[in-house]
Formats: sequence, C-alpha cells, structure tokens
Amino acid sequence: MKKVIFDVDTGIDDAMAIAYAVNSPELDIIGLTTCYGNVAVDEATRNTLAVLEKLGRNIPVFAGADKPLNRNPREGFAKHVHGEDGLGNVLDFEPQTSAKSEYAVDYIIEQVKKLPHEVTIIAVGPLTNLALAVQKAPEIVELVSDVVIMGGAVFVPGNVTPHAEANIFTDPEAAEVVFASGLPITLVGLDVTMQTLLPRQNVDAWRNAGSEVGEFFANMVGFYHDFYECANPGIGGCGLHDPLAVGVAIDPSLVKTKYIGVGVITEGEEDGRTVPLSEEEEPKINVCTEVDAPRFLEHFLKRMPAGQ
Ligand code: BDR
Ligand code: CA
Repeated sequence: MKKVIFDVDTGIDDAMAIAYAVNSPELDIIGLTTCYGNVAVDEATRNTLAVLEKLGRNIPVFAGADKPLNRNPREGFAKHVHGEDGLGNVLDFEPQTSAKSEYAVDYIIEQVKKLPHEVTIIAVGPLTNLALAVQKAPEIVELVSDVVIMGGAVFVPGNVTPHAEANIFTDPEAAEVVFASGLPITLVGLDVTMQTLLPRQNVDAWRNAGSEVGEFFANMVGFYHDFYECANPGIGGCGLHDPLAVGVAIDPSLVKTKYIGVGVITEGEEDGRTVPLSEEEEPKINVCTEVDAPRFLEHFLKRMPAGQ
C-alpha cells in the first residue's frame, strides 16, 4: 500500500479522483491538502470535507495556499466549469467535520520527514503547496518516494488558453519551482487526460444505481458534462484529468512516458505554457505521452461508489 498525500483544489474531477483514490486498496491516503484553484481555498477545503463525508470516509484534511507563490491571483475562479460551489451546484449541506489546524505545507514537510522514501504525493491543483514545501524544506526532495502531478500540456494545446493548462496557468512560478526541484515527478498532462473521457451513459448508470452517493456524483458530473459539451460540441464525455493522476499512481503501466526536462513560460501570451527542454537540460521528469484509455476507464469505473 502506498502512503499518499493528496493535494487537491476540489472541483468536480478532483471529487471523482478522491472517490477513486479512497476506494483503491493500493493507496493509503494519509491526508488531503487543499489549495485555491478551481475555487477559493476555503471552498476547496469545505468541498473536500463534504466529498469525504458523502463517501463515509474520515481522513484528515489540511488547508493550504490561498494565492499564487509570487504573483497576483488571476481574476475569478472556474465557476463556469465546476459550478458556483465547485461541485456542480449539488452541495446542499455543510460538512460536519473541519480541517485540522496545521498548515498544509507544514503537514507535507512533516510527513515526508517522518516517513522517508515512503510518501507518494499526488497533486491535482495549482502547485503552490508543493512549491512552498520545497522552498521551506529543500531536504524533502530526496525523501519523497514519488510525485504524480496532473498539470501541463507539453506536446498538445492548453485548455484555459491556446497554450496553457489550468493548474499550471493558475501558478506558473510554482510549477517552475517544482519541475526544477529534482523531485521524482510523473506529469499527467492534457497530453493524456484529454484521451480519457468519461461518457455520459456511465454517469447515468450511477444515478440509476439507487444510492445517495451515486446520485450525488451523477448530478455533479452532469454539470461537468454540460460544460464539456458546450465548450467542445460532440465530444461525448468529460475529461478525467485528476482521476488519471490517481490511476497512474496506482498503475504506472497505464501510460507511456518521455524522460525530459520541462520548463514553464511565466509571462506574455504563452504564460503558463509547459515546454519540453533540450536533451542536455536537467532535472528530467516523466512526461506522460500515451495512455491505455479503455483499461483506465474500466479500472476507474469499477472503483467509483456506484461503479459497475
Ligand atoms: C485541471 O484543472 C482543474 O480545473 C481540474 O480540476 C484539473 O485539475 C485540468 O486542467
Ligand atoms: Ca483539480
């Protein structure tokens, strides 16, 4: 069982990724850390607690960064993608549990030091918490087991601009710090996540399964499907971005990778773009370039609460 710290900015695909992760016996989610991104950090924390509660799981949650590393936040959040509440406007209760008092960045540092070479970090929001942790305690770079990041679009176009993917665009400097840190990273970007679409009929099956949690996820993901269909008419599904990072953490054979350096453009028209570096440049990371989408989708669906 891999011990995992799961760093999220809980919107809709983060919520699916949380469900997938906590239902996967290969992973021991020791804590979730939250970051602003799809929503403000307080909302991301609330959503994370709410999703865990719906799933009947009690795992500690730690609130983290509320703004980028060293620039002003971008205007607004992704409410058109994830809903006013970040969960497709299905949240009709306040979670009973609260986040722990420790700051997410300190929690990451503390756990990595306490469990040397044992902790996998899965990060599926802006990379601010991870960048702050590396800046504050560079020694953790050598002590982390591995890091799986949903972010970037290395050989394909972006999703929030023609060049940039949302998580990297939200805090390009944080991504730059993380990619240059020497951490053992696998980058699960749009290169592969746009190949793993969740068809609408699978979600209808969750609704028809007759469970409260199935209906909760079906309604939430229905909002995401509507956004995807509107943005890309005829696409027939929504991107399983954050769930694919969980899938790769469980089973790296789901993807093929290229071991290269990745840079980040931090200004101008291409702000937030992830670019492949020349062969000589270090450090290198594993960039996912191909995915076995049918095998991943089957694995993911089996582990969703009302999965089949
Ligand atoms: C990423 O951006 C966020 O909106 C999603 O949750 C995912 O992490 C996809 O570009
Ligand atoms: Ca996310």
